[in-house]
Order: sequence, then structure tokens, then C-alpha cells
Amino acid sequence: MLGNFSYHNPTKLYFGDQALGYLNEELPKYGETVQLIYGGGSIKKSGLYDEILAILKQNGKTVVEDAGVMPNPTVEKLREGVRLARENKVDFLLAVGGGSCCDYAKAVSVSVHCDDDPWDKYYIRFEEPDCEIVPVGCVLTMAGTGSEMNGGAVITNHEQKLKIGHVFSDEVMPKFSILNPKYTMTLPKRQMVAGIYDIFNHICEQYFSGEDDNTSDYLAEALMKSVVHSSLIAVKNPEDYEARSNIMWTATWALNTLISRGKSTDWMVHMIGQSVGAYTDATHGMTLAAVSLPYYRMIMPYGLAKFKRFATEVWGVSADGKTDEQVAEEGLRALEGWMKQLGVTLSIGELGATEEMLEGIAEGTIILDGGYKTLTKEEVIQVLRESL
Ligand code: NZQ
Ligand code: ZN
Repeated sequence: MLGNFSYHNPTKLYFGDQALGYLNEELPKYGETVQLIYGGGSIKKSGLYDEILAILKQNGKTVVEDAGVMPNPTVEKLREGVRLARENKVDFLLAVGGGSCCDYAKAVSVSVHCDDDPWDKYYIRFEEPDCEIVPVGCVLTMAGTGSEMNGGAVITNHEQKLKIGHVFSDEVMPKFSILNPKYTMTLPKRQMVAGIYDIFNHICEQYFSGEDDNTSDYLAEALMKSVVHSSLIAVKNPEDYEARSNIMWTATWALNTLISRGKSTDWMVHMIGQSVGAYTDATHGMTLAAVSLPYYRMIMPYGLAKFKRFATEVWGVSADGKTDEQVAEEGLRALEGWMKQLGVTLSIGELGATEEMLEGIAEGTIILDGGYKTLTKEEVIQVLRESL
């Protein structure tokens, strides 16, 4: 295990088809005024909005509506949410939706009592909050990001063509998250598979780093196998509770800080994917899917032993009579085959990216150095071009 670290995760989870009832246990812990954060209306269609409003009323809460959080929440929406929270002196932020709502709630939480502009402070200067943080709770309706049990909050600035994530510390993580797999069953298939690929890639981003015999890698392999297994059931039958519940639980453990312990971690697929998102506003998981294979093929020679292990341990590739390169390549072909079965997008061109954008997308890509190879800007452009 690399380095020295602490481990603590403050988010309490309530999981299962009866989990919403636990809101009654959590709400009394917080003040009277609750900002109810949700997206474009899926929770109204499903009836979840009415259920939650009833529980809030039963608990004597004053509700401040904050609707219309868009996928890939923008800095303009964030500023609006902060204004709303200030004007109404809210005590608690309840996000009901996917990663976008949950991320947005965290970004609001650190900005309500802060004078600086949140974009400049948290996304350009990367400062930590030095003001009171409004507590956040989450009722999750989409499995993928892990936002329900982490400190991440990704915000998009279309004017600056930047999509940036700030991973905040423990105090910003949701106090609790309610995970009812049944809520995810109303997701359109495209969103379901984008979320599934997001989960898988979170695991890869942590797995493809380091050369030690690391417990986090064994955990990562188990999580990857579970995602692949359940995803193939869910694409055939989205109503399969067993598969959907395993996917939801795996999503949480894929990015709740556990499997990053003792790892340098890579995150370059996310960095490139986020910059594609800043230019196209495409669905997060699809941007990752589109750039993954060219990226992994590029870095494979530098982390060959790990790519071989990925092939044999995750995909069951036999190493008999093959070179390490052949085994590793077979692993990536197995990954590609699975992605095609899911139906995720394999081209940034299909997401709206054009040749003219490549230079800007590469410019907006934050280059990290925890993986097997530190990319140059030209190599980022090469990955993007191969995905056009
Ligand atoms: O807005 P509504 O109407 O609710 O519709 C949403 C949205 O259109 C819909 N949806 C969600 N649950 C549904 C549903 N539709 C029907 N039934 C349901 N049960 O799905 C669409 C996408 O929702 P969104 O929240 O945008 O998706 P996701 O959970 O993938 O979140 C994406 C955001 O999270 C960030 C991404 O960059 C992106 O901004 N990420 C956050 C991370 C973190 N906190 O650690 C890490 C991730 O890598 C990611 O970057
Ligand atoms: Zn992601």
C-alpha cells in the first residue's frame, strides 16, 4: 500500500426498496428550512417528488424549491442556487436526482456563506472552504457517479469552455444518502448504460496505477466483475432488481474513496472526457466511453503488467502460449466487446466534437501524472483524433 493515509467516510447510507422511510430519521437532525434540489422533472413523473414533499411536510419543514438542475450543472445555475439559499436562509440542502443534483448541492453548500465567487474560488484557485458549510442529504435516482458518498462536485462553465471537478473533504460529503434501486428503473436505457460505464471507468482510473501488490486492486477487480455481470442482465431486462441493486451498490463503492487508498490513481480518461463535455455538453459516461479505448491502447505499453492482469483477472483471458502484449490486447478487446454490448458511444464525433475543437479540448484537459504515462498535449490530441 502506497504512502500514509487515513480512512473515514462520514456518509450514512440507507439502501433498499424501503430506504426512503429513513428520511424521517434524518430530517429532524437539521433545521427547518430545506432547499429541495432536483432536475428537469423525472422525479415529478415518477411520483418521488410527491412522496418526498409529503415527508418534508410531515417533519414540519419549510420547503424552498430549487428545480431545473441540468445534467452537467452550470456555474450560472450554481450562482442562482446560492442566491436562493441565502435569500431563504436555508438550513439543509436535499438533492433528489442523479450525480448532477448531488454535485450541485455540494457546490451550493460550500458557497452560501462565502463571499467569493464559487467558480473562481473552488474551480480556478482550487481553495478549500473556509466558511460555514450547509449540510447536504441525497436521494439518488441514477447510479453512476458515486457522488452520493464522496466529496466531488463537477461544475461546467460554458463561457470559459471548462468542466472542472473539485473533490471536497469529508465535511462536504452528504450527511446521508438514500439508495433505492427501484428509482433507477425509470432511467432511459442510454442513461443507464452511461452510468454503468461511468462506474466501470471510476474503477479503472484507480486500478491503472502503481506496481505494488495492492489490496485496492483486488477490491477493484471484484467490483469490475460485478458491474460487468450485472450490466449484461440489466441491458436485457432493466427491471431486474437484483442486477439494478448490485449496479447501484457497486457505483457507490467504486468512488467513495475506498479503492483509491494506497494508489496514486490515474484519472486521465475523466480529464479528457470532462473537456469533451465542456465543448459538447455530452452525457458524462458517454464522453468517458468515447475516449477510453484510444487512451488505454496508448498507455498499455507503459503499464503492461497491469493490463495483462486486467485481461486475466477481469475478463478471464487465458495467458497460455501468448506474449504479455497479446494477453493485454485481448483484455482491451474484451472491454471493447462489452462496451458494444452495452451500446455506449465509442466516438467523440457522435457526441458533437469536431476536428476544429480538438486543440481547445486538449488545452482544457488537466494533465495528471498518477498513471502509467504522463501525456503531452499532442498525445491528448492523438487520443481525441482517434476517437473522432
Ligand atoms: O433532470 P432529470 O429530469 O432528473 O433527468 C435526469 C438527467 O436528464 C435523468 N434521470 C436521473 N434519474 C432518473 C432520470 N430519468 C429518469 N428516471 C430516473 N430515475 O438522467 C439524466 C442525467 O442525470 P445526471 O444527474 O446528469 O447524471 P449523472 O448521475 O451521470 O451525473 C452526471 C454529473 O456528475 C458528474 C458529471 O461530470 C456530471 O456533471 N460527476 C460527478 C462525480 C463525483 N461527484 O464524484 C464523478 C463523476 O466522474 C462525474 O464527473
Ligand atoms: Zn465519472
